Amino acid sequence: MPKRFRGKRINPPPIVKTKKITVIRAVSAMQRWGGKNGAACGLVPTLGALHEGHVSLIKKARAENKTVAVSVFVNPLQFREKQYLLYPRTLAADVEIAKNAGADVVFAPSAEQMYPAEFDGEIVVPSLFGRLKPQKLEWHYKGVLAVVMKLFNLARPRNAYFGLKDPHQLALIEKMVADFNIPVRIRKCPTVREGDGLARSSRNALLTPEERRAAPVIYRALVAGKRELKQGAAPAKALAGMRKIIAAEKLARPEHIEIVDPLTFAPVGGKSHEALIYAAVWIGEKRLADNVRFRMK
Ligand code: PAJ
Repeated sequence: MPKRFRGKRINPPPIVKTKKITVIRAVSAMQRWGGKNGAACGLVPTLGALHEGHVSLIKKARAENKTVAVSVFVNPLQFREKQYLLYPRTLAADVEIAKNAGADVVFAPSAEQMYPAEFDGEIVVPSLFGRLKPQKLEWHYKGVLAVVMKLFNLARPRNAYFGLKDPHQLALIEKMVADFNIPVRIRKCPTVREGDGLARSSRNALLTPEERRAAPVIYRALVAGKRELKQGAAPAKALAGMRKIIAAEKLARPEHIEIVDPLTFAPVGGKSHEALIYAAVWIGEKRLADNVRFRMK
């Protein structure tokens, strides 16, 4: 390569960003995009406020698909009104993060377009809903299933990526896909954690420094429960041990801990192959949830 041309120094080319990202806002445009590109697409549904957990899903989608779409949509059907209004909305930053992680498209529709006034759809999975604890969360999961069904029908993806961080959501989506023969392959992704074990979550940003120091107790308790179960302890004993670990942290208050089969949400028993230990814990005023999932034997 000549360094000079007609005596003048040729500057090195400026850094050229070849990677582009398309932001689709209209539902009709996404429907058209999905019709053309869906068969080669990996879809990563999110609520936005993207963090390392989301990035891991996008990177996995990038590795497995020709095209990657990320949806960024705060779904009103899965929130109580106050939480809906409070949820962080950071679209410009999300587009940048999605692009750097390898996404080709961000779908960020408005709530009005996703749910026109006449919208009246509902999906239920009675066998699993019956085992949800607390039962009153049924409405939330109906909202999740409705939006995921809509996103699947718009993007028409070959693969869709979900985190093991939300095990009930994941099991319900898998059941919906199986029951309705939806032609989407569900790809499960491991939970991304901070160095001290705290699962990455957009809620972590709300913790005070003191709460942040207390929060890893959740994962410590989960790991201890898993160890006990694997050593043959009865679930009740493992639960008691976990409660004791959490009680030793003065800012932590367990709301709900369960040891269940991750596919059916039934309590684990002698015949269970897999176990899910799920804990929803208040750290000060903030509710955090985490889980571990493992083979019993
Ligand atoms: P959101 O909470 O934004 O999460 C989007 C996806 O990222 C989910 O599949 C979730 O399990 C995954 N995720 C979150 N934190 C993670 C972590 N630390 N490690 C790995 N994966 C993580 O879950 C939702 O949105 C919504 O309910 C949605 C499915 C988008 C429907 O509105």
